Amino acid sequence: MFKKFTHEKIETNAGWLIVLTMFAISVGGLVEIAPLFLLDDTIEKVDGVRPYSPLEQRGRDIYIREGCYTCHSQMIRPFRDEQLRYGHYSLAAESKYDHPFQWGSKRTGPDLARVGGKYSNEWHTQHLIQPKSVVPESVMPNYPWLMSPLDASDVADRMRALRTTGVPYSLTQAEFEKNVKQFGEDHARMFHIPNAQTNLVSQAQAGNYDGDNTSVSEMDALVAYLQVLGTMVDFSKIKPEDLVKFR
Ligand code: HEC
Repeated sequence: MFKKFTHEKIETNAGWLIVLTMFAISVGGLVEIAPLFLLDDTIEKVDGVRPYSPLEQRGRDIYIREGCYTCHSQMIRPFRDEQLRYGHYSLAAESKYDHPFQWGSKRTGPDLARVGGKYSNEWHTQHLIQPKSVVPESVMPNYPWLMSPLDASDVADRMRALRTTGVPYSLTQAEFEKNVKQFGEDHARMFHIPNAQTNLVSQAQAGNYDGDNTSVSEMDALVAYLQVLGTMVDFSKIKPEDLVKFR
């Protein structure tokens, strides 16, 4: 009786309802936000995470253009069933150079956060052209147009745009040298914007992702991107206690 009375009183009084709603929301907000102030960094320090090469980056743009994220997430949650199926749960550090990140919120298909290295390049190419040809029960659409040539002319501009969001692609010699220290010489060369287009073509030709070495296709870029997903961090070298404070 008493319970009903107070509840009704609050719900029928706009002033009280506003004040108490704001109070409830601020408590909820504080509980979520306050602990973050006590951490020095919310991104784990793990070795191996690097920006995407120009070819991988173009592949990622195609992934977004084709809306792959509407059916695939890229975030393995820290639950046992997820880890048994997909591998180590995703770390914040693994998407620190992803703008925008591709965590996704819906899984019509499997999570792709660690799909890199799971299949061969030929499998991916065949699967993307016609998924049912390799997985007969698949409901994934065909993407045959990915075999068309990749427009690589604006790759430097795309990297320049990402640079403004904090991805350490280099423009000057000093920035290049900083990257050499952080990522090693081979990777640092890949991240140098003035050479972006040349680097893109040479990676596509060396990798031969779509099985056709005569030209660079959108498929080359997308498969290069899929093959790097989840492969940057070597989890065999990370002890669980290194990550424990972020759990
Ligand atoms: C309509 C939803 C849908 C869309 C859109 C979609 N997929 Fe899929 N995808 C699936 C389903 C379902 C599967 C599982 C069956 C299969 O392997 O084909 C799958 C499987 C996959 C796999 C294999 C994963 C594994 O671990 O076995 C890859 C890789 C993949 N998709 C990549 C892509 C890419 C890249 C795109 C965008 C070009 C895309 N998908 C768009 C539904 C979708």
